[in-house]
Amino acid sequence: MAAPAKKRALASPSQRLEAIPPYMFAELERRIEEKRDAGIDVLSLGIGDPDTPTFRYVVEAMREAVGDPGAQKYPSNRGRVEFREAFADFYLLRFGVEIDAVNEVIPAIGAKECIYNLCFAFLDPGDVALASDPGYPVYTSGPVLAGAEAFLLPLRPDLGFAPDLEAIPEEKLEAARLLFINYPNNPTGAIVPEGFFEQVVELAGRHDILVVHDNAYSETTYDGYVAPSFLATPGAKEVGVEVFSLSKGYNMTGWRCAAILGNAEAINTYWRLKTNVDSGLFEAVQLAGAAALRGPRKEVEEMCRIYERRRDLVVEALRDIGVEVEAPKGTIYIWAPVPEGHSSSSFAELVLEEAAVVVSPGSMYGPSGEGFFRISLTTPDELLREAVQRLRSHLTG
Ligand SMILES: Cc1ncc(COP(=O)(O)O)c(C=O)c1O
Repeated sequence: MAAPAKKRALASPSQRLEAIPPYMFAELERRIEEKRDAGIDVLSLGIGDPDTPTFRYVVEAMREAVGDPGAQKYPSNRGRVEFREAFADFYLLRFGVEIDAVNEVIPAIGAKECIYNLCFAFLDPGDVALASDPGYPVYTSGPVLAGAEAFLLPLRPDLGFAPDLEAIPEEKLEAARLLFINYPNNPTGAIVPEGFFEQVVELAGRHDILVVHDNAYSETTYDGYVAPSFLATPGAKEVGVEVFSLSKGYNMTGWRCAAILGNAEAINTYWRLKTNVDSGLFEAVQLAGAAALRGPRKEVEEMCRIYERRRDLVVEALRDIGVEVEAPKGTIYIWAPVPEGHSSSSFAELVLEEAAVVVSPGSMYGPSGEGFFRISLTTPDELLREAVQRLRSHLTG
């Protein structure tokens, strides 16, 4: 009889977990901490976590909801009717999309949870998920943790940071069960190119691929641009779902409030998975989320004005130090090419060492992010001005 394989050490991770790199923002936070411990006043433009508070009317709705004993029990993963109806009304008013509040929307505990669990609901070993590169890390770690393959679709600057769908190998299309897309796009700041959603619907229908549009940034847009929902594309509901997060558009990152909308059967499959792994979104948060969606638009508009002002500040400073950068029409990020002679990480390192400013190296978001860096606009104006001043004085010339 073969000797039993040596049992691994108590705290050693599973092979599945070992297969993915450490979560990149955790590493960034560690570096910042290290510098601060050494007494260096580091300004971080790395992470996209809004600095302005959740809108007052949302907090008030939460205050009321949290005291309601009816909202304190285990939530149902189907979600409260108030939440589902608020989403249905919002989608009609904001995007012109009809959503059946009974079958076509349920809550998610943030978009991150939703994307991760979609991988476990739909992927088996041997399956493929098609994932934007650069992209939000869970599009690649989710499939790998689920034992499947994440096949990267490079976002091409010459195509407006869209992938070339015709370049996807036939065998990958055959094995693909999920396609992750995201516009306005993190990290590139790109808005959806004309006709791209239509091409996606056509491709997905032809190859039986479930499209997951990660709509995290439709409410943070500038210069009068109004971002569409993927579900407004003819035929989208037959092939896809949209994950709508309240994190960025309503300054609610800590609340973990999102929804999945669209294809009813796909949503039901996700629900089946969720009933096995979590116990739903706190109902008071659902009620606060519903209040956010039904609330006055002026708070969202004011938030966009703040980001737009900061965007202009950063773009001007980067141009002054010779960085060719486009002003994005959406998201809360500036995506810029690193100066000649630098890689993403050598430039981020230089900026940290010379100016004590943190920017995210583009390579953190996937191999096609190499040659770029990302700046987040979620820093108060005076600190952002200080950071920009440091970049000007340390990096000019
Ligand atoms: C593209 C994208 N999707 C999802 C998320 C996470 O959203 P949530 O806070 O709802 O989990 C982020 C956060 O940065 C993001 O950039």
